[in-house]
Amino acid sequence: MKPFIPFHLPDIGEEEICSVVETIRSGWLTTGKKTKQFEREFADFVGTPHAVAVNSCTAALHLALEVVGVTAGDEVIVPTMTFAATAEVVHYCRALPVLVDCQSDTLNIDIEALERAITPKTKAIIPVHFAGQPCEMARILEIAKSRNIKVIEDAAHALPAKYQGRMVGTLGDITCFSFYATKTMTTGEGGMATTENAEWAEHMRMLSLHGISRDAVNRYTPEGSWYYEIRYPGYKYNLTDMASALGIPQLRKCHDFATIRHKYAMRYNEAFKDVPEIVIPHVNEDIEHAWHLYVIQLDLQRLRIGRDEIIDLLKQEGIGTSVHFIPLHLHPYYSNNNTYPLKSFPVANQAFKCIISLPIYPKMTDADVQRVIDVVTQIIQKHRR
Ligand SMILES: Cc1ncc(COP(=O)(O)O)c(C=O)c1O
Repeated sequence: MKPFIPFHLPDIGEEEICSVVETIRSGWLTTGKKTKQFEREFADFVGTPHAVAVNSCTAALHLALEVVGVTAGDEVIVPTMTFAATAEVVHYCRALPVLVDCQSDTLNIDIEALERAITPKTKAIIPVHFAGQPCEMARILEIAKSRNIKVIEDAAHALPAKYQGRMVGTLGDITCFSFYATKTMTTGEGGMATTENAEWAEHMRMLSLHGISRDAVNRYTPEGSWYYEIRYPGYKYNLTDMASALGIPQLRKCHDFATIRHKYAMRYNEAFKDVPEIVIPHVNEDIEHAWHLYVIQLDLQRLRIGRDEIIDLLKQEGIGTSVHFIPLHLHPYYSNNNTYPLKSFPVANQAFKCIISLPIYPKMTDADVQRVIDVVTQIIQKHRR
């Protein structure tokens, strides 16, 4: 049996290991100079004035909603085709997530459905750049601006990605990135919020560390003072220097990682484009895709078996896959709630039955990619109608 190809493996080199060890040896483990450096390098990388490091994208999304003023009774529009975090943060603010359907090709938020979902209570929209493909931001920003609605981008998948030549991270009001272990770069757990608004950045930074006026560097170094003030009832969302020490070399490799992901996506596209049972990912014009995920859609009419069986067969052949996502409205918490009737999401319902995410990451070799192609193709050929 050939070795298992996992759905994901992080690419951690000697630079990362040395950087983390150096930080551990330095004696300064929590948020400090490394995190400041990581924030500065990240802001420069994306091309935005402010980047606030936190311990997850979920934390970044929560702080973003809070600083733009989302509060009890407000509504926030969220695509149903996303991960738990995008909607749960709306609950943190005691607001209501209003779920909307996705587009059948990109699986990004359906803009007509988004427009229909707007009410006088809508305070914010959280577009998710699904798989690393930027949403149609010009339309979303136009809709939002004309109604004074804030746009908080969930860019957990979209580093680095571009929309009309501009980096994701410079488009909406606040953009939130993830450095979770499976993402395009990682700090194990971690996240970043970028914005052009200095006040929001400062507010998020303060909220990320108990809402206090001084961080640890300013309290515990020889130059610092013991005195601090609580300005807001904050949270414990700060990123450690150990995590930032991992993030800095990862960030410096981010474009190289993206080049490999792109190359593998093009190989999959080439291999599957003439397989009628497979719909390859649709890519809009004028964007650069981060290819965090490579999601195929199966044409189930042409197959004798369903998506779940194909995933099982792939596993038996040593290929790890995943499904992004089980739409939120299908999870018990949301489906037991009359606010999210099944019939409101025909596209996501249909897409969910046929999507499979194939492995795509820089640690894969060319031979791994070829094996995935061969195994997928063989399974499809064997089970076609
Ligand atoms: C679309 C999306 N948003 C948010 C998150 C949350 O990221 P984190 O684990 O960094 O909080 C994820 C994580 O998988 C995600 O896929």
